[in-house]
Amino acid sequence: MPAPSRLRLGVNIDHVATVRNARGGYLPDPLRAARLAEAAGADGITAHLREDRRHIVDADIDGLMRELKVPLNFEMAATAEMVGIALRHRPHAACIVPEKREERTTEGGLDAAGQHNHLKPMVARLRDAGIRVSLFIEADPRQLEAAVVLGAPVVELHTGRYCELDGEPKRAELARLQKAAALCARLGLECHAGHGLSYGDVGPVAAIPEVRELNIGHFLIGEAIFVGLEPAIREMRRIMDAARAPETAA
Ligand code: PXP
Repeated sequence: MPAPSRLRLGVNIDHVATVRNARGGYLPDPLRAARLAEAAGADGITAHLREDRRHIVDADIDGLMRELKVPLNFEMAATAEMVGIALRHRPHAACIVPEKREERTTEGGLDAAGQHNHLKPMVARLRDAGIRVSLFIEADPRQLEAAVVLGAPVVELHTGRYCELDGEPKRAELARLQKAAALCARLGLECHAGHGLSYGDVGPVAAIPEVRELNIGHFLIGEAIFVGLEPAIREMRRIMDAARAPETAA
């Protein structure tokens, strides 16, 4: 088993925009949240420009690209419009996610295996522009192998199901994530994970040695209502670090 490397935390600020959009206008400002997240030690900011612009809007991406010091992970559907926007901004990373208009959040992983012909040229164009491409997929060996064939250097494993389950089914889903992360290492894929993670669920995922980055949003923004964004992020970071290296954590 490899020695665990430092685990990066990407903070997803979409739901600051959700609250803003509920009223219209400018407040609360997702860019301010991104700056606070940077100050709290986030290694990156994640933002999902959905086709229906229900949270992050185009001007937010302009502002994030202009002002962020940490890398932006641009989450996007596999559409010509989104590829065009990504190529115009050239964020550090682009994470391709499945998108359905009627869903509340990204419900499942991308079918990388079934959409080979559609995805292959998009992955190539993003990569050629120097953007680190990741595919948001289920912890399924078929999907991991498809990511390799598509030329994506990174996959993000969908942790939503793990977070929703309890007891034995949760342990089984964690084992599936662990196996997938180990397979990533064998296939030469960088392994990320995210979706639905909270203080209670993050530890076992953070402890998977092959996982290099977690992207976390909804829980942190919700927790920020009660304790503030910086303390929420610092606590998440502390739990991640403790899970990663229990013997050295404070
Ligand atoms: N990673 C990906 C690819 C996502 O689509 C999302 C949700 O937008 C997240 C991480 C963060 O999920 P959550 O907001 O549930 O923490």
